[in-house]
Amino acid sequence: MNIQWYPGHMAKARRKITEELKLVDIVIELLDARIPISSRNPDVDEIVGNKKRIVVLNKSDIADPQANIEWKKYFEQKGITPILANAAKGTGLKDILKESKKLMKEEIDKLKKKGLRHKTIRALVIGIPNVGKSTLINKLANRSIAQTGDRPGVTKSKQWIRVNEDFELLDTPGILWPKFDDENVGLNLAFTGAIKDEILDIQELSKKFILKALKDFPDKLYKRYNVELDPDSDVEIIMNKIGRKRGCILPGDEVDTNRTAALILDDFRSGRIGFITLEKPEDIL
Ligand code: GTP
Repeated sequence: MNIQWYPGHMAKARRKITEELKLVDIVIELLDARIPISSRNPDVDEIVGNKKRIVVLNKSDIADPQANIEWKKYFEQKGITPILANAAKGTGLKDILKESKKLMKEEIDKLKKKGLRHKTIRALVIGIPNVGKSTLINKLANRSIAQTGDRPGVTKSKQWIRVNEDFELLDTPGILWPKFDDENVGLNLAFTGAIKDEILDIQELSKKFILKALKDFPDKLYKRYNVELDPDSDVEIIMNKIGRKRGCILPGDEVDTNRTAALILDDFRSGRIGFITLEKPEDIL
């Protein structure tokens, strides 16, 4: 997925979502539990309007458990019950279905009173790139990602996935664009992998990550790499230490800084540095 968002791309994505919203009862808004601020589309409230919405904090399995609790409280105070999920494993999926029924209770009861058949709730999954939309859809549909590829013969028209007798899902998610105008937001998105590495300077990014780690979670960094981390050291020196320790060495005994940078980012993204949340509710101005 190319995350070069130009005004034209945004307008197209917005049009698509606006059209699809007309078809559904509920929107499932996916956020990355590690960066709930940065992974939120700046215009989402306006786009979704009055449509019923479920907020899912996905990838909560690799976020800080304490921060998960704090974020849950934060959203609850705003009148939203967020669902902590791990779409890859399927955790939280039942809660999404339960919450949908709760949100649609009035409509369901109305139909019941009229003696009509039960209501099928229709939903659309939305979120920024890489937040786990396809994983969630596939898990709810109980199918593997391999089956959804761009193979010839696989129909591209809109399809409804029947999750159970009360719940249907649109088979393609709505892709939202992140907010790019704040440097920290851009960095958080890049750290977590929401922006393709190919368009980034991996070494620079990794250095910025080390600086953030030294400030916010030095113990985790130390524990992972078991190197002396003097916060006053030059970040290049720290990176070299990590590279040497992890065997990222070029012929001639020089540290392979590119490989080291990729390794550090990969370790963070896969939770190997620990369960880390980069943004806290108190960061909201
Ligand atoms: P785009 O197609 O780029 O819009 O991405 P998407 O939002 O559909 O994300 P996708 O489902 O492709 O997931 C992105 C990556 O995150 C994949 O490597 C998934 O395996 C991983 N992933 C998704 N959900 C979770 C989760 O809850 N926990 C963890 N640890 N990884 C997850």
